[in-house]
Amino acid sequence: MIQLEHVSKQFEAGKQTVEAVKDVSLHIEKGTIAGIIGFSGAGKSTLARCINLLERPTEGKVTVGGAELTALSERQLREKRKKIGMIFQHFNLFASRTVYGNVAYPLKGRSKGEIDQKVRSLLELVGLSDKAEAYPSQLSGGQKQRVAIARALASNPEVLLSDEATSALDPETTRSILRLLKEVNRTLGVTIVIITHEMGVIKEICDQVYVMEGGRVVESGDVFQVFASPRAAVTRRFVDSTSNFSRIQELLDDPAHPIRLNPGDYLLRLNYLERSTSEALISNISRRFELDVNILLGSIELIDGNPLGGLVVVAGGGHDKITAAVAYLSKRNVLVEVISHG
Ligand SMILES: Nc1ncnc2c1ncn2[C@@H]1O[C@H](COP(=O)(O)OP(=O)(O)O)[C@@H](O)[C@H]1O
Ligand SMILES: [Mg+2]
Repeated sequence: MIQLEHVSKQFEAGKQTVEAVKDVSLHIEKGTIAGIIGFSGAGKSTLARCINLLERPTEGKVTVGGAELTALSERQLREKRKKIGMIFQHFNLFASRTVYGNVAYPLKGRSKGEIDQKVRSLLELVGLSDKAEAYPSQLSGGQKQRVAIARALASNPEVLLSDEATSALDPETTRSILRLLKEVNRTLGVTIVIITHEMGVIKEICDQVYVMEGGRVVESGDVFQVFASPRAAVTRRFVDSTSNFSRIQELLDDPAHPIRLNPGDYLLRLNYLERSTSEALISNISRRFELDVNILLGSIELIDGNPLGGLVVVAGGGHDKITAAVAYLSKRNVLVEVISHG
């Protein structure tokens, strides 16, 4: 649905040239939700604006829905752009228009009946049927973003670009907006590109993720794959930002709480890698290999139903049994690391 080939964008800022996007190639399939994550200044917004050609790339080719946008005239482009909706962090609603007026805006020129039917159905979709006559100033942040989503959908877009659309919202409202986007994706088949600096957003609804740094895509792939075994340093920073797993070493080094190991005890770190089975691994190894397993610390979350993260445990039962248990776990995509033993 969206194909970027060697897209670069440079800005001339005074005497300086800023390379906001550098040689980005990506392919986002129809009907999927793709995430673009990066810290501030990474080039995400510029890249998003290159997708609908609000920014014309300095180099490269942009194709959306089979049409090569970079080859179109301004007039042809205006037509094509209707197929690409966009929502933003600050909603960008018309303050002087009602909710109804905002959603109806992209429909001007159509018959009154047609507009009314479309606006009503969009307001129902976003759960704001009772707010049609309200003004943006009378709405919460989450409600404003719902209006913006309804407005973006008014021209039946094939693609919806979301640039930090949940960044000004509290976590609860963020989740409700993400659920709405997922529903839009599922029921209308709209391909969605989510731009964010929050890994939680990506984990919540994206199928694919692209990690940006310094204008480049430094890592990409299936969300679970990328976050389970991050290769780029910046990806690791995002993973650590939502996990307390990085605190393990601190805890282990804390002289106030030494971890005492009896002879035959092993201090192990279990990392859930790849897609692990959902079987009860800890109770399994404990029963099968007659181990005592004591969980000291855990950080596990589910992405796509797969556990991601890990545990630090003390396992007692002696060298042989533990070696067998480690082999068993390795076969089930759990990487086991011996931190120390008694
Ligand atoms: N219109 C512009 N003129 C000059 N520099 C810009 C312009 N837009 C963005 N930049 C620069 O490009 C880089 C990437 O910006 P941006 O795409 O907004 O990043 P992000 O959205 O990831 O925070 C930054 O260094 C920014 O200052
Ligand atoms: Mg931005």
